[in-house]
Amino acid sequence: MTKTLVWILVFLGAFAALFFLQHLTKDYGTSSTEPGYTEASGDTTNVAGVGGSELVSQFGCLNCHGNDLAGTPAAPPLTGLSKYYDREGLITYLRNPDKNKTGARFDEYKTKYASGIMPAYGNKDLKDLGKIADYLLSK
Ligand code: HEC
Repeated sequence: MTKTLVWILVFLGAFAALFFLQHLTKDYGTSSTEPGYTEASGDTTNVAGVGGSELVSQFGCLNCHGNDLAGTPAAPPLTGLSKYYDREGLITYLRNPDKNKTGARFDEYKTKYASGIMPAYGNKDLKDLGKIADYLLSK
């Protein structure tokens, strides 16, 4: 008799637990989609419309550095830059390249890309340069 009662209780308990769990996960599911949506639409990098990848095209970087950033006879590739720069360092370089040449590769660049001159972008919006830096450092 008591054994049967125990089993019944166990089953009831299990059902209650399952019901509760399902309820929890369901609630969690609906409430987590909504903040997800708000976050996505609140993400201004895309809403503003111009991200780093578009800016390197708009600012003419690709004309010299190549559409795939792989370099041209006029300018070196812009991949793997995170080896040499952090975000601040890259922005600083872009604002004044002549004064911020870091490393021996620039000696090689002088002869290899003698026909190209890296322009200074000190007149550009810092936010835009930041977007470019983020984009390039991810390449
Ligand atoms: C007129 C051609 C030209 C344009 C336009 C140009 N670059 Fe350059 N860039 C060069 C050359 C040439 C070098 C090599 C610099 C040197 O030898 O001093 C260079 C070097 C660089 C470097 C340093 C690479 C390294 O190994 O450290 C970065 C970063 C860079 N450019 C980014 C950009 C970005 C971003 C833009 C657009 C905002 C841009 N460049 C536009 C010609 C150009």
